[in-house]
This record gives sequence, structure tokens and C-alpha cells, in this order.
Amino acid sequence: MNLIATPSLFSTGQHLQGKEIERISRRIKDLESIFSDKKAYAALDAERVVYEVESYLPVPNNTEGGLFYGITTIKPGTVGNEYFMTKGHFHSIRNRAEIYFTVSGEGMLLLMDEKRQTRAEKMTPGSVHYIHANTAHRTANTGDVDFIFSAVWPADAGHDYDTIARHGFSKILVKQNGTPTLIDRS
Ligand SMILES: [Fe+2]
Repeated sequence: MNLIATPSLFSTGQHLQGKEIERISRRIKDLESIFSDKKAYAALDAERVVYEVESYLPVPNNTEGGLFYGITTIKPGTVGNEYFMTKGHFHSIRNRAEIYFTVSGEGMLLLMDEKRQTRAEKMTPGSVHYIHANTAHRTANTGDVDFIFSAVWPADAGHDYDTIARHGFSKILVKQNGTPTLIDRS
């Protein structure tokens, strides 16, 4: 029996390479509920990719004690004055936390607690972000190039996208005078 294993998964920093990788693309047409400016949204190419996620899922979903690892790439762009961003979610098991690590580009991490208090953290290459339990999270690309970050989260956390699809975050991130600004959702 060989006691020394060869790795089956590699990360280039920007991409994962291996057999057990799940790849998801989110296009304009998949993100109808999240952007505020419906007119600007309708004018965009429905097939345009907004972000892609590559995930390494070494254990079945919902495995207590397991961990997942992923890399997300958000394309540069805006819908009206709102930056391209992820759907955002609470974890289905609310007390599960997560860590993000910024690889490249410029972005923002929006965090909203269960009282709907929203704040944001700047994400720059090398920055590490601890997302506390009971906190909804969403990321946005605030730069002109791909914004890439990696994440580690508990395998049993799950994704509650529905709460955000129905109620949104209490604030949105818009480009005002060229600067990312967090404003109340009208
Ligand atoms: Fe998460």
C-alpha cells in the first residue's frame, strides 16, 4: 500500500483543477430579482456572464463537520449604477460562518445581519474576511477587471438565496461620482 498520496486537486489561484469540481455560471437572465434598476437590467444581453463559481465539494452536501472550498470570479460591469454582484445568501443553518480570501481585482463584501443592518468591507488582493454566523453576504466587483476571491465554508451550511431574492439587502452598492457608495434601497 502506498502511504504517500498524489494531490488530486490543484488551484492556480484563479481556477480549480481536479475531478470533483462543480462549475456554475450566473448570467444576467439568472439574476432578475437582485438588481434595482429594472430598465437597465432589461437592456442588457440576457446571456452575459456576471459571475462564475468553481467549487470543490469533497464530501456530500450537508455533511456535519465537512468543509467546502470555492473560487468566485465576478466580471466587471454595472446594471444602471449598481455594480455586478452575486445573488447573496444567508446560510440555511444560520449559525455557520465562512472565510473569504481576495485573490485579485477590487471588490466589496456586503454583510447584513438578521436585523437588516448592512455594512461593507473593501476586498483587495490578499485581504481575508471572516463572515460571522447569522450574516447574509454578497460580493460586488467595483473595479475594471475580473474580481476573484476564494472561500471556505462548512459543508452543512447550505444556501438560503430565497430570503434575499424576496427582501434583498437593506442597502445597495452603487457607483456615485466614480466611487463605490452604500445607499438605502429605494
Ligand atoms: Fe456563504
